Amino acid sequence: MITKIEELLKTVQEAAPKSAAEVEELRIRILGKKGELNALMEEFKSVPAEQKRELGQKINLLKQTAQERINALKEELSAAAATSAEKVGDMTRPAAASADGTRHPISIVKNQIVDIFSRLGYTVAEGPEIEDDWHVFSALNFPLSHPARDMQDTFFVEKRSNEPNVKDLLLRTHTSSIQVRAMEHQKPPIRIICPGRVFRNEAISYRAHCIFHQVEGLFIDEGVSFADMKQSILYFAKELFGETATIRMRPSYFPFTEPSAEVDVSCNLCGGKGCNVCKGTGWLEIMGCGMVDPNVLEASGIDSKKYSGFAFGMGVERIAMLKYGVKDLRLYFENDVRFLHQFDDAL
Ligand code: PHE
Repeated sequence: MITKIEELLKTVQEAAPKSAAEVEELRIRILGKKGELNALMEEFKSVPAEQKRELGQKINLLKQTAQERINALKEELSAAAATSAEKVGDMTRPAAASADGTRHPISIVKNQIVDIFSRLGYTVAEGPEIEDDWHVFSALNFPLSHPARDMQDTFFVEKRSNEPNVKDLLLRTHTSSIQVRAMEHQKPPIRIICPGRVFRNEAISYRAHCIFHQVEGLFIDEGVSFADMKQSILYFAKELFGETATIRMRPSYFPFTEPSAEVDVSCNLCGGKGCNVCKGTGWLEIMGCGMVDPNVLEASGIDSKKYSGFAFGMGVERIAMLKYGVKDLRLYFENDVRFLHQFDDAL
């Protein structure tokens, strides 16, 4: 009997149940009504009197040890269950929203502009930021030593000589270079929209930066007229600034378009009455445009007798400033999250 008690004691001490059900099994086996302990008590009755003291103590020890061990095991398991439940949490709760990044206001406005022209059948074209003189200037009817080149202060990457050269490498000053590449490689009809980063060696101020973004467009087909251009730009202005927007065109000059115009949109902040954003005029300047100069078509191998077209170009920062009433263009480059978060819902 004594060895039996000692065996049971060992079983209890070494038991390593993995679940509450296994602990319960152990409890029933040792402490249950029909368990080992009660069987021992039964046997104890017929033990000779001189052994009763020693055996009685052993049985009591077994009982106590079994109870303590089983209680401890129960606690351990329920504590472990609680921490894993804490980790998983409430499985039915909706997942916490992850803090996704949001679009930069310049991307938002660029996408809006691109979307509007996509609806008119324009497709997006892209090109290199480091360009050669030919695609940025010469092919666009800027003669090699023409003062019009000074309209855009250029960052040069590689100069071939002191004089302007069609092979000079430079940072593109406008995305019109993409339009030249399109005209070289595609046959009309061409209907493209050209978003991209451009670079000009200008002093940084509230209204100018040496890096900014443009969206330019080009439409070439048979019989394209100034009226087509006006209507397309009016549609664009209404889509971007609202149904009540109107436009006006003022004569202007660009080497690659003839005639050329500057487009103003009615000031959406004061409704045309005059405010400090439109400087009391009721109008905001939004883009340059014009009919593609026949020289430009010919330079890229397009028959100017058969085809005509129009082009336009705008600065995304400027449009975004007008649309959101932002007074300092530098804010778009500082990326202060307090500024950027104001555009979270502007998608
Ligand atoms: N490329 C001109 C600029 O950067 C904008 C423009 C494009 C004007 C097309 C007329 C036609 O200033």
